[in-house]
Amino acid sequence: MLFFIPILLVTLLPQIHAWGSLGHRTIAYLASLHFTPASNRFTNTLLHGQDISEAALFPDKVRHMPQFAYSAAWHFIDAQDSPPHQCGINMTRDCLAEGCVVSAIANHTARVADPHLPRFYRGQSLRFMIHFFGDVHQPLHTEAEDRGGNEVSVSFDGHATNLHSVWDTLIPNKYAAYDHGDDELLAAWTWAQRLYANDSRSLDECMDDAAECGLEWASEANAYVCSYVLAKDVHDQDLGGKYYEGAVPIVDEMVGKAGRRLAAWINAMTASASALEIE
Ligand SMILES: *[C@@H]1O[C@H](CO)[C@@H](O)[C@H](O)[C@H]1NC(C)=O
Ligand SMILES: *[C@@H]1O[C@H](CO)[C@@H](O)[C@H](O)[C@H]1NC(C)=O
Ligand SMILES: *[C@@H]1O[C@H](CO)[C@@H](O)[C@H](O)[C@H]1NC(C)=O
Repeated sequence: MLFFIPILLVTLLPQIHAWGSLGHRTIAYLASLHFTPASNRFTNTLLHGQDISEAALFPDKVRHMPQFAYSAAWHFIDAQDSPPHQCGINMTRDCLAEGCVVSAIANHTARVADPHLPRFYRGQSLRFMIHFFGDVHQPLHTEAEDRGGNEVSVSFDGHATNLHSVWDTLIPNKYAAYDHGDDELLAAWTWAQRLYANDSRSLDECMDDAAECGLEWASEANAYVCSYVLAKDVHDQDLGGKYYEGAVPIVDEMVGKAGRRLAAWINAMTASASALEIE
């Protein structure tokens, strides 16, 4: 029995708190479609030519390693609100001493732009930045209730799962018609191109202050917890039908916004000469 516990933990832990890899890849690709030539060169240099959708997954790959344990709290902000009646984030109450997704966005955005930091650390912060711009747009990454839905048992098209995984992975995968074993990069690229083609607006996003913008984006995601995610009791329901159909526009919108906002920030950064000085 003891023998099985570590295996179980290793299998279950990576599921907690993160858009699935398809969502993160799509956000990274969508941002790259919006990049200026300077942003393309800048990100390629800091990522050593690594595929940007692969770079987006780094924070999930390392968060359970002891040497990156300090980064685990950065993937979410667990609002202690009371959905579905009252939603809202309070930084003092909800951002842990170790940090949260809002403070991590501020930290890593500043580090990526810092010409005095060695290239290695700026590249690592760029991977965190890409990832957390994604996480802050997942409604259940901004909610404490039932550990962000991890403790809400539901099913999805007949398979037992939990509400958090439904939002992280099962809704995006179904929407993108992606099955395990398919080409995930291709599915993400196709989704990103569709979002890009349908959204030619200029990138007029919140730009003043990364901590303020991060809080604004987290609050936008958190509002969906009350208006949709937990609006009705979903315990033990199958969410693959009507619930899925109602969720798709929200997921599409939030993945789209995450990619656009990420691009807007990187484009603004690379428009400034100092950020482009790379040691
Ligand atoms: C935010 O939370 C802190 C700590 O719990 C509390 O003192 C403060 O009144 C809250 N602010 C608002 C606007 O509710
Ligand atoms: C900012 O990120 C660096 C690198 O990951 C980390 O060492 C530092 O503790 C972070 N600072 C804050 C305030 O989160
Ligand atoms: C394109 O965007 C519009 C407005 O946001 C939306 O109503 C429509 O469903 C989108 N179409 C696709 C194919 O995503």
